[in-house]
Amino acid sequence: MPLTNALPAALAIRHRRPYAWGAFMDDRFGDLLPGARILLGPGPTMADPRVLRAMATPLLGQFDPEFTAIMNEVMELSRFAFQTDNAFAFPVSGTGRAGLEAALTSLVEPGDRVIVGECGRFGLLLIEIAERCGAEVVAVRGEWGRVIEPDRIAAALTGGRTRLVAMIHGETSTGVLQPLADIARLAREHDALLLADAVVTLGGCEVAVDRWGVDVAVAGTQKCLSCPSGLAPVTYNARAAAVLRARTSKVRSNYLDLGQLADYWSPARFNHHTAPTAMVYGLREALRALFEEGLEPRFARHRRHGDALRAGLAALGLALFGKEEAAHRLPFITPVVVPDGVDELRVRRRLVEDFGIEIGAAFGQLQGRIWRIGTMGYAATRQNILLCLAALEHALRGEGWRAPAGAGVDAAVAHYAAAGGTGAPSVDDSLGAHGIGRM
Ligand SMILES: Cc1ncc(COP(=O)(O)O)c(C=O)c1O
Repeated sequence: MPLTNALPAALAIRHRRPYAWGAFMDDRFGDLLPGARILLGPGPTMADPRVLRAMATPLLGQFDPEFTAIMNEVMELSRFAFQTDNAFAFPVSGTGRAGLEAALTSLVEPGDRVIVGECGRFGLLLIEIAERCGAEVVAVRGEWGRVIEPDRIAAALTGGRTRLVAMIHGETSTGVLQPLADIARLAREHDALLLADAVVTLGGCEVAVDRWGVDVAVAGTQKCLSCPSGLAPVTYNARAAAVLRARTSKVRSNYLDLGQLADYWSPARFNHHTAPTAMVYGLREALRALFEEGLEPRFARHRRHGDALRAGLAALGLALFGKEEAAHRLPFITPVVVPDGVDELRVRRRLVEDFGIEIGAAFGQLQGRIWRIGTMGYAATRQNILLCLAALEHALRGEGWRAPAGAGVDAAVAHYAAAGGTGAPSVDDSLGAHGIGRM
């Protein structure tokens, strides 16, 4: 039976065209043309066009010497991004969660004691994964919107022999940036490993794996690296590798066995799953863009645009969520308190429908209470900040919120000028500075 028979008569007529041989072609499924969007949520963020272009280049077989050379470059660039000399620095296939699951499932054996710092939705995720690994999980819980103080981890470490401490470096759900160096030192003193979730922070702000003494770090591609989701860059040091080797039980996942994955990413090229080669191309390009921009200039760009956004939000009379000082907040995730009487969903819907701008909602105890505005990687531009402020002002006015007209945009422009710019777009602001042409 032709598919069109299932359609109402009017639609069927509109969608049926005769094939040359007299049958009917069903063209309900037209070309893929998604609406234009400016992604200013907590991730996925906008992919850099140069990354998308790299992903569209012809495929190579996963053991082709040309491809294995690309893999080696990805490892070298990953070391650069993680600021590490670790031998092990490669992407796990899958999103950030797959990287976290690979690390925990491979490093933790049933019955191992694992301490997890939890002050947000992604800390809860680490607890969930560690429990599934059969760990004895000790949750050190903190207030959402605050960091976990190292002395609380120190106290937990004295409670028993611990295999691993797991912390969220950037808690995307609250916008908190967790300092790690003291916790890494404490973990080492107790012969435990420190695992850091750097899914939102890699390529966005300092992730100094070696300097801080982080043993395992896991990242994602769809945040500050401006790549589609689908790979999880991971790095781990010799201490973690020794724990892997000393396991007495088999890793319970075949797909996420770090040791086996490391063998594929080593000169041995151990045959494991079929590598997602197009994603590897994309990650290489995203890391290459970071390498070209430089770590500190990239971090400074995030601070500059995030600060301009926050200046504009303040001028609109909006408050930020969280009690931490600026040093403990993510520069590129801005959590905004939804004012009383404002319908948070209606505002987000208006932003998408009228301006094509997506900002983020919140999870769990913060659901309906805050928005999260992400200004990461390719999306962190002056144009996007000013557009977002103008659009938000408009959407809030529709909710009865009164702010001086244009105040948000004016404050952001003033911030850029005071921060040393003339207010004119700089190179990093021009759409496709590395690709489509400068403005
Ligand atoms: C801090 C953090 N950890 C873990 C994850 C999970 O990553 P993914 O959604 O890529 O699996 C996210 C995603 O938002 C995150 O922000």
